[in-house]
Amino acid sequence: MEGILAISGSLKRGSVNSAALQAAAAAAAWDGIVVSIDDSVRALPHFDPDLEAEPPRSVLRFRAACEDAAGVLLAVPEYAFGIPGAFKNALDWTVGAGSLYRKPVAVLSVAPRGRGARVREALEAVLTALDADVTYHSVPVASRDRDEHGEIADGTVVDELHTVVTELAERAWLASRSTP
Ligand SMILES: Cc1cc2nc3c(=O)[nH]c(=O)nc-3n(C[C@H](O)[C@H](O)[C@H](O)COP(=O)(O)O)c2cc1C
Repeated sequence: MEGILAISGSLKRGSVNSAALQAAAAAAAWDGIVVSIDDSVRALPHFDPDLEAEPPRSVLRFRAACEDAAGVLLAVPEYAFGIPGAFKNALDWTVGAGSLYRKPVAVLSVAPRGRGARVREALEAVLTALDADVTYHSVPVASRDRDEHGEIADGTVVDELHTVVTELAERAWLASRSTP
């Protein structure tokens, strides 16, 4: 098993969710935890059950990245009270292969304080359907918490991200020990 796979639910340049994953990856490195940021959501075709018999290479790569990861860290914005379409599409591609089945997953809700409750509910439903082993973490981030490059600069936010990723790595390690 590899380290932690981090997937942003936002395709936006300068995304706060992607910035949070970058900060989490940097903080994880302090403890020697390897976090790989995966951008394949952008490249996946629309989910189509007719392609399941012979999935496109991008889908096989994405599924393998999820399956090989010891744990998966997600950061997903709320769009129209729900999950951004491109990210939900990626989750749909994992269904047939069971790529997230019993996978230790941590979901970051990175949004201004008090926002993002509905995407969390939507993710809870979908990740329950996928039978992933999920924890949810609200990490409020305001624009003042980012530097001029958009990176997360606030020490408290970085500490919260560090805690989430180290706890995920711990769960992933325990899960890998209990898997035959
Ligand atoms: C199409 C669209 C729909 C949105 N819908 C909601 C919403 O329903 N509720 C909410 O709190 N924010 C909503 N937002 C705001 C985003 O969730 C917010 O800007 C988030 O920080 C974007 O994350 P990102 O910077 O990682 O892309 C929406 C933004 C867009 C572009």
